[in-house]
Amino acid sequence: MTTINEVTTLDIESNIALLTLNSPPVNALSLKVRQGLVAGLKDAISNDSVEAIVLICEGRTFIAGADITEFGGSDSLGTEGNSLNDVMHLMENSPKPVVAAIHGTALGGGLETALACHYRVAVPSAKCGLPEVNLGLLPGGGGTQRLPRIVGAEKALQMVTSGEHVPANQCLEMGLVDELTEENDLKNGAVIFAKKLVTENRPLVKVRDAQDVVEKDRGNDQLFADVRKSLARKTRGFLAPEYNIQCIEAAVNLPFDEGIKVEGKLFMELMMGNQSRAQQYLFFAQRQVNKIPDIEKDTELKDVESVGVIGAGTMGGGISMNFANAGIPVTIVEQSQERLDKGLGIIRKNYENTAAKGRITTAQVEERMGLIDGKTSLEDLNSQDLIIEAVFENMDLKKEIFTKLDSICKEGAILASNTSALDVNEIASVTKRPEDVIGLHFFSPANIMKLLEIVRGDKTSKTVVATSMAVAKRIQKIAAVVGVCPGFVGNRILAQRQREANKLILEGALPWDIDDALFDFGFPMGPFAMSDLAGLDIGWGKETSNGESIRDLLCEAGRLGQKSGKGFYVYDENRNKSPDPEVEAIIKKFGEERQVRMRDINKEEILERCLYPMINEGFKILEEGMAIRASDIDIVWTNGYGWPVYEGGPMFYGNTIGFDKILFWLKKAELEMGPEFKPSAYLEKVVAEEINIF
Ligand code: 3HC
Ligand code: NAI
Repeated sequence: MTTINEVTTLDIESNIALLTLNSPPVNALSLKVRQGLVAGLKDAISNDSVEAIVLICEGRTFIAGADITEFGGSDSLGTEGNSLNDVMHLMENSPKPVVAAIHGTALGGGLETALACHYRVAVPSAKCGLPEVNLGLLPGGGGTQRLPRIVGAEKALQMVTSGEHVPANQCLEMGLVDELTEENDLKNGAVIFAKKLVTENRPLVKVRDAQDVVEKDRGNDQLFADVRKSLARKTRGFLAPEYNIQCIEAAVNLPFDEGIKVEGKLFMELMMGNQSRAQQYLFFAQRQVNKIPDIEKDTELKDVESVGVIGAGTMGGGISMNFANAGIPVTIVEQSQERLDKGLGIIRKNYENTAAKGRITTAQVEERMGLIDGKTSLEDLNSQDLIIEAVFENMDLKKEIFTKLDSICKEGAILASNTSALDVNEIASVTKRPEDVIGLHFFSPANIMKLLEIVRGDKTSKTVVATSMAVAKRIQKIAAVVGVCPGFVGNRILAQRQREANKLILEGALPWDIDDALFDFGFPMGPFAMSDLAGLDIGWGKETSNGESIRDLLCEAGRLGQKSGKGFYVYDENRNKSPDPEVEAIIKKFGEERQVRMRDINKEEILERCLYPMINEGFKILEEGMAIRASDIDIVWTNGYGWPVYEGGPMFYGNTIGFDKILFWLKKAELEMGPEFKPSAYLEKVVAEEINIF
């Protein structure tokens, strides 16, 4: 065996060269890896005894892509003499067959490297994909030009716009992989395959030269128009999906070398832009959020094999579905048979709707319903490993329930509350086991929303926090650990935006002006459309209404939101909203009675007023240690509140604007409008001392 460099070795076994990469964790195409590949390929090609070359990886996976940590630095993909292109050029033009042997995942630059080989073999559990779009990029190593030359434009479009990881058997069907080997015998299988190539004198297939597949779609503009249409809603605001489509179009309509130029130009444009920077940041933020500094990796975990949920309302039902979906049995306890039946009925209906869309089978509906057991007595929660309380948001009621749970639940069970704002420490205080009490704050609809805030109480044990993180992973949630404070991280920041939006409509901006500004920024909807969707009467009562807010006036006028056909907006029979002059008149009258000065407020000011106080609140949260790191806040807001991913989240966005600018704005606003804009002391410190908070 020859050592090429720290991450590359070359072995020659009966005339087949095994070029092996070992660069943990994921064999990404760092400068070292590329250097190893270039040198190793040159050695193998010039060695007369070598008849074919197999590229294979040690560890958990084949090459999982370019090394994202190098992006923008001096070691980047284009490094002279060792660029990704140099690697590919050597492979594709090798006079001896080069075979990629794939296990784990061949992603991005990894799959592109494999596509520059003459052949590909894989184990059945392997997956291939071009996930660059999720990093705000496109495959810049020839992937957009080579992939469609094998799988056709339609499948290539699907792969580059979704970033999906395609299982090996499907890759085999598409021709992306030439042969599957035994699961645990990749090396042997690849060597046998390579020998066969030699004995059968098979051609050195250069994917770049294959024209027949792409030619079929030349001039088929409809194909691209259809894809653009089907993605329009999901990808609004994102640049990368459109750029990926343009590259596939180039592959279909232009010769390879021209297409590569288009790919290179668009790749660089994305790479230099803010969107990709934001998405790369979120990639690492998503991995960071799982790391809790004072909780070691080997912290003991509790077994969670059964769950109890209290309350079969909006949240309890959705929460239960998460566990049933993951195959974990759930016991739901309601206060009456009638409410229980209603709750279970809604769960069934949800599942049946999913089945009607073809996303699960009818057998799966029954299987999942079979995992959900309904009860009306808390005494039935004496054996479950994890109990999640989701009753009305009322401290006395929650305390009463936790007192009972303390005497009913088995020793060691985790007792969680789904409270959205109450003090988890106070809830824990009524039990004799506060170390087992935690907040698990799901978001509505709980079976769909990815985010979970894990609220760590003063006395919550490390084991309970670590187990909650592990449970979150099992039910496919993105979990962020937060501290106990009103509204935790997400709702606490939301309250800032709500306050300013409600003030703005009394200063001259109309609800739709504000919603439009936030929608154009990239949120799926603005605060007023959101209120209409949720129902304006949540937490509102006729008896207590005193006409002191626009909401009071709207509710009093029977404008309860979408459900009554009108709220801040008026809705047609398809729930399409339009601005309503009646609402404008209500707001105007309200303002006049209070002699408020109305003025024109532009989009920029609306955004500043709504977003800057949120960023300020983020700093206060960090200052108080209620979030572990700035990027955790961004994970909460991009996954739970629709902050556009390409803007990175409130903290990332604040940095893009400049924290010094935001501080200046806040100070001015504090003077002009009041103490709610007072800058956080931590923000002042970050600006004064130029601290990097990421
Ligand atoms: N570059 C640098 N580091 C990477 C990386 C990459 N491409 N991919 C993963 N890592 C790191 C992670 O940050 C993590 O580090 P940590 O342990 O310090 O937190 C570690 O590898 C393990 O990653 P995961 O925790 O995500 O491990 P999983 O086993 O859950 O998933 C994976 C493995 C499926 C490979 C997943 O990491 C992944 O999806 N990686 C990104 C793949 C990707 O996007 N590739 C395209 C890159 S862009 C490109 O190739 C451009 C080219 O077209 C020119
Ligand atoms: P909900 O009113 O839809 O459901 C609450 C259910 O609890 C009702 O079905 C009620 O009958 C049941 N219940 C009340 N007392 C009970 C008892 N003693 N025993 C058994 N069941 C009892 O309320 P929702 O919206 O599901 O909220 C539940 C909790 O989740 C609240 O703490 C809320 O703040 C929190 N939450 C709500 C979110 C939302 O968007 N609705 C989001 C995140 C958290």
